[in-house]
Amino acid sequence: MLKLEEINKTYHTDKIETIALKDINLTVKKGEFISIMGPSGCGKSTLLNIMGLLDAPTEGQIKISGAVIESYDDKNVAQLRNQKIGFIFQSFHLIQDLRVIDNVELPLLYRKMSAKERRRLANQALERVGLKARTDHFPAQLSGGQQQRVAIARAIVGKPDLLLADEPTGNLDSHMGNEIMQILESLNKDDGTTIVMVTHDDELAQRTERIVRVYDGQLIH
Ligand SMILES: Nc1ncnc2c1ncn2[C@@H]1O[C@H](COP(=O)(O)OP(=O)(O)O)[C@@H](O)[C@H]1O
Ligand SMILES: [Mg+2]
Repeated sequence: MLKLEEINKTYHTDKIETIALKDINLTVKKGEFISIMGPSGCGKSTLLNIMGLLDAPTEGQIKISGAVIESYDDKNVAQLRNQKIGFIFQSFHLIQDLRVIDNVELPLLYRKMSAKERRRLANQALERVGLKARTDHFPAQLSGGQQQRVAIARAIVGKPDLLLADEPTGNLDSHMGNEIMQILESLNKDDGTTIVMVTHDDELAQRTERIVRVYDGQLIH
């Protein structure tokens, strides 16, 4: 599904050079659910952003379903990202002045699709995360756990093959965190969605098939 080969990432700000990732080789197979763990600042988010084509590596190669990503400002890459990859973030990243249903529909605006079909798919995604009764609420009217479920609905509305989650339970108590984890597990088992999740939570990581550990920008084996 996804192959990273000899990935390096260096950030340049003012006079400081930060090596965020060093010689990363990682393969994620179709249908896998893996977690990424490591101390704060070790490069987990950078790694996830590179996997999701949100950020380009300084060196190295990424293959998605066998195709090499050549150029990052390419229209095809934007399309690939929109159609094949869903993102979930620690702080939900919902648009506060849009209703739940409109937040979930957002990714579909980039596709050729009727308004009716968009609404149907958004309702279906909200049903999938158990929030059908909240479609007309605004994010601020929901609990943190509910907001993250809306964010999951938005991430899956376009039926992506790959779901990338950056500390999705980081802002939630353990009860809500467990609910989010159960939804991710069901998306993986029942829908076959490939999932890569960054987490600090050992118990949640143990529930995934494989734990990838990052330290100082490098994978530890
Ligand atoms: N946009 C950026 N510009 C400069 N440095 C960055 C940027 N993003 C991340 N970094 C640096 O890269 C390193 C890895 O960051 P990050 O991937 O966010 O770590 P983690 O998610 O594991 O906490 C850190 O030293 C961080 O300060
Ligand atoms: Mg991070």
